[in-house]
Amino acid sequence: MCGIIGYTGSQASEPKLITGLKALEYRGYDSCGVATKEKITKAKGRVAYLEDLLRNSEDMSTVGIGHTRWATHGEVSKENAHPHRIGKITLVHNGIIENYAEIKAELQTQGVKFVSQTDTEIACALINSYYENSGDIIEAIKKAQKRFVGSYAFAIMVEGENKIYATRYKSPLIIAKSKDGYYLASDMSALIPFTRKYYRMNEGEIICLSPNGVELFNAKISTPLWEISNLSIEDTRKEGYDHYMLKEIYEQSTVIKNTLSKRIKSVLPDFSEDGLSNDYFKDIHEIHIIGCGSAMHAGLVGKGLIEKYAKIPTSVFVASEYRYNPPIKKDNTLCIFISQSGETADTFASLEYAKQNGYKTLSIVNAQNTSIAIESHNVIYTYAGVEIAVATTKGYTTQLAILSLIALKLSLDRSTLPLEQVKDLTSKLYNGVPKAIETTLSTRDKIKFLAEKIKDRDDAFYIGRGVDYYLCKEGSLKLKEISYINSQDYPAGELKHGTISLITENTPVIAIANNIDLFPKTVSNLKEVKSRGAYTILITSLRVTDEADCIINLNAPSELEAIFSSIISVQLLSYETALLRGCDIDKPRNLAKSVTVE
Ligand code: AGP
Repeated sequence: MCGIIGYTGSQASEPKLITGLKALEYRGYDSCGVATKEKITKAKGRVAYLEDLLRNSEDMSTVGIGHTRWATHGEVSKENAHPHRIGKITLVHNGIIENYAEIKAELQTQGVKFVSQTDTEIACALINSYYENSGDIIEAIKKAQKRFVGSYAFAIMVEGENKIYATRYKSPLIIAKSKDGYYLASDMSALIPFTRKYYRMNEGEIICLSPNGVELFNAKISTPLWEISNLSIEDTRKEGYDHYMLKEIYEQSTVIKNTLSKRIKSVLPDFSEDGLSNDYFKDIHEIHIIGCGSAMHAGLVGKGLIEKYAKIPTSVFVASEYRYNPPIKKDNTLCIFISQSGETADTFASLEYAKQNGYKTLSIVNAQNTSIAIESHNVIYTYAGVEIAVATTKGYTTQLAILSLIALKLSLDRSTLPLEQVKDLTSKLYNGVPKAIETTLSTRDKIKFLAEKIKDRDDAFYIGRGVDYYLCKEGSLKLKEISYINSQDYPAGELKHGTISLITENTPVIAIANNIDLFPKTVSNLKEVKSRGAYTILITSLRVTDEADCIINLNAPSELEAIFSSIISVQLLSYETALLRGCDIDKPRNLAKSVTVE
């Protein structure tokens, strides 16, 4: 949800801002812009356009701020692109000022004119008006902070100065230090080409960056507590793959191993390295799993496994609903928050709600040191590495790996499975799953053939039962988000209760069916749609030959291996279909990777 970058130091700022903005594009790519001491340059669309505009720039200004936008208030246009300037203040913003209309009306009575439709320009005008009155920018920002309702990360420049001022509330912002000056950014991935030394700003702090130093205001500390990022430049490269998504699909067996290796001891789950005591899960009577999109889908699979292995009632909630329609509170409930980015606003807000209501909170997060990871009582990091494609793949499967291990740990603690079976399942997770993933990746040619079959269709359906249905939800989301085919997921038995009316000649219906008991029923549902003209695809780990028009036979001898193999095949199917349709796979229409607004 919008990316922010800033630099002040000894070198020209524009090239650095462009480099940073390119890395931040995953946060939004509707429009972009940079401001230096000399000028503001904006472009509608991608950072590449902005880069072209600045290719022959002779601007040697050593201070600047930049922004890449995911539009909220106002259409995608150059006028609405950031940076915004009013009077002596130029700023970029990530977040939403919810009371912008009230502030706008007030400023208009003072004669302020606005050129954009954004809430950001109003914030800019408010800070400028306070600054004009006091001549003190820190006081002006403090006063504005008291007025703003909503979320914000601001990078602010004052006319004629080489300094950048920054503050944040609910939206992320880090500052970083290098030999040639100081930077700020929405996240560290933008700054890896320059430095790895960073400080994550706390809410409400105000920071002034100048070429030679940092000053903190509204802070409990007087100097930043620098940390070293574990990201490397290689993490952010495509490494010969055509798309980040493909690279990330192929990385999955490795990152799952990385995620699990330190959490398995003597072939049993062990979360002691995450700071969880051996009896951490012991008194849990109920579990809530909360997340958005794919993270929520991972939670559903987790629910299936926890209830099956450990017999603990588990409910999964869409984060944007959890705090507004909360379930009735019971004692000894563990709330698990899942987020790849660690910054998703809806998930973060639910976490705050859960803490305020006395729940024990545990998060599963990929990006280190992010809001959700820091705010929850405990965190288990997934080691997926940087995920750049907007559509998550390895982020999701590493979440599945941790949830599977939690389910096994719970079953161990409650003795709901014999010890030997827990060991066997743990071994399958650690050794079998990565191998099964590799085998599924080798079926890519068959999946390409299937992509040809569905590429020209407007609609598709995913059907399954139990955990397979939860996998369908993820498969369906992947297909729609990157190929723009209108895909729906259904419990296999539910299609005939209305939606089957949408099946026409060659409508693709993809069934995932790995459960031997439920298999005949799902196959019957597939035959029902086949007799109405559907093109049927069956993804299964069971040995069958003629139950559908096309079968992807997974080499996955156990349930855990089948779960991961199924997902790899639907990820590949979405990728190959989107490729044939000429879609922008890594940056799909209208999306952003880190959704930091509610
Ligand atoms: C999945 O491909 C999506 N990009 C999206 O559903 C994502 O999983 C969701 O927005 C949650 O993000 P998070 O894991 O960073 O919280």
